[in-house]
Amino acid sequence: MSTSRTPEFFAGPNLNVGIIGCGYVGLPLALRFCEAGHRVIGFDTDAVKVEKLNAGQSYIQHIPADKIAQFVKAKKFSASADFARLREADAVLICVPTPLDERREPDLSYVEHTARAIAPNLQRGQLIVLESTTYPGTTEELVLPILEQGGLRCPIAAGPDKQDVATDFFLAFSPEREDPGNKQFGLAQIPKVVGGVNPPSGRAAQGLYSQVVARVVPVSSTRVAEMTKLLENIFRCVNIALVNELKLLSLRMGVDIWEVIDSAATKPFGYMPFYPGPGLGGHCIPVDPFYLSWKAREYDFATRFIELAGEVNTAMPYHAVQAVADALNNHQKSLKGSGVLVLGVAYKKDVDDLRESPTLKIMQLLGERGAKVDYNDPYFAQLHKMRHYDYSHMKSVELTPANLAAYDCVIIATDHSSYDYDAIVAHAKIVVDTRNATRRVAANRQKIVLC
Ligand SMILES: NC(=O)c1ccc[n+]([C@@H]2O[C@H](COP(=O)([O-])OP(=O)(O)OC[C@H]3O[C@@H](n4cnc5c(N)ncnc54)[C@H](O)[C@@H]3O)[C@@H](O)[C@H]2O)c1
Repeated sequence: MSTSRTPEFFAGPNLNVGIIGCGYVGLPLALRFCEAGHRVIGFDTDAVKVEKLNAGQSYIQHIPADKIAQFVKAKKFSASADFARLREADAVLICVPTPLDERREPDLSYVEHTARAIAPNLQRGQLIVLESTTYPGTTEELVLPILEQGGLRCPIAAGPDKQDVATDFFLAFSPEREDPGNKQFGLAQIPKVVGGVNPPSGRAAQGLYSQVVARVVPVSSTRVAEMTKLLENIFRCVNIALVNELKLLSLRMGVDIWEVIDSAATKPFGYMPFYPGPGLGGHCIPVDPFYLSWKAREYDFATRFIELAGEVNTAMPYHAVQAVADALNNHQKSLKGSGVLVLGVAYKKDVDDLRESPTLKIMQLLGERGAKVDYNDPYFAQLHKMRHYDYSHMKSVELTPANLAAYDCVIIATDHSSYDYDAIVAHAKIVVDTRNATRRVAANRQKIVLC
């Protein structure tokens, strides 16, 4: 550990990196720094995760255990719940959750607790980077004052004349762009945006990340970096709402929206395809835009696109449940008392993540209307208690021909690649398809209801 760390120091070899929050974002990042030759301590408050990591085990489906085990064995990676060990780190990266609370307002308690855990251990010349998605101003307004409580200073400064402003430690924001399950773009290929509280902090963070990603994109401030992440996610949220609304209209008009999207996507400029579905899921897209809406109120500003997109996307699970009711009605059946098998609880295909999954809402609505609900998901053998739902009694039903035939209706909520859609349609009585997953199924199409 160096006691005279300059911004250039962080572009050098053999760094000690502390990563706080070993989840979907923090764990891959930790392994990437190990690959680049640095020594990483992963800090987490979850004792089970710490124990598993130190035993070389993985708890995230797409992160292989052997990779963790290899770095544990080589003493490049260890996990800890002892935050006093933050003192050993040259750089500390914060990857803790930023959810919404019950009133759908930003819950920054994880970030705040983390800053309070760092503060008494903060060392002169350490680099602290917040990676958790949040509203513009969080790094400067929330994290910085807590870190400065111990007496070390990191002045907010920008511009050419502040290039070498004196600073006791370095503080930056760099949003994570991880896309779990994306085989085309991994962490190392995705450019990383970096903004410092002052120019030396920006340079320190650039130096650090340039060792693990192909391209670092420096921006002038933490606020620009924070807002960049929100723009990216709001762009997705609004465009998904747009195609969801156009899907509802197309269904009414008898136009195939998926064919329309594929056809529009042949335009080589000015268009990017987004696909409709049963609603928004995942930790980011349903949550992050509301961080900005909340902050905007401080400026007397109404973020109307965000609110409208939220309204359209929130209505989609209700639409999917109504489609099940209508399909059963066409077969002289009521939703009340019918057996409905829901396929896919993960929020998107081929991932073992069900945070904010619209399927959870669909299952709740089906149950409230009297349906007997079961589910299948190859990534979840059983469900557990969550913040808003308790499905701890449910286990994944095996997808046998007999089981498929036993339900009055099967609804495809998440289009996992491993599903045999021909067999599903062949054996089910009715298939309500929210994702156009059955597009290549030729036989028995009269059983399929696209919604
Ligand atoms: N998952 C994604 O695809 C993704 C993509 C981009 C950005 N993000 C953002 O990254 C941040 C982290 O998301 P995630 O998906 O990795 O969350 P996660 O829930 O998978 O992981 C967070 C980890 O932090 C730990 N933790 C909670 N409080 C802690 C504390 N005080 N100290 C130490 N550890 C603590 C939890 O035990 C957990 O292991 C969020 O702000 C999220 O919005 C996530």
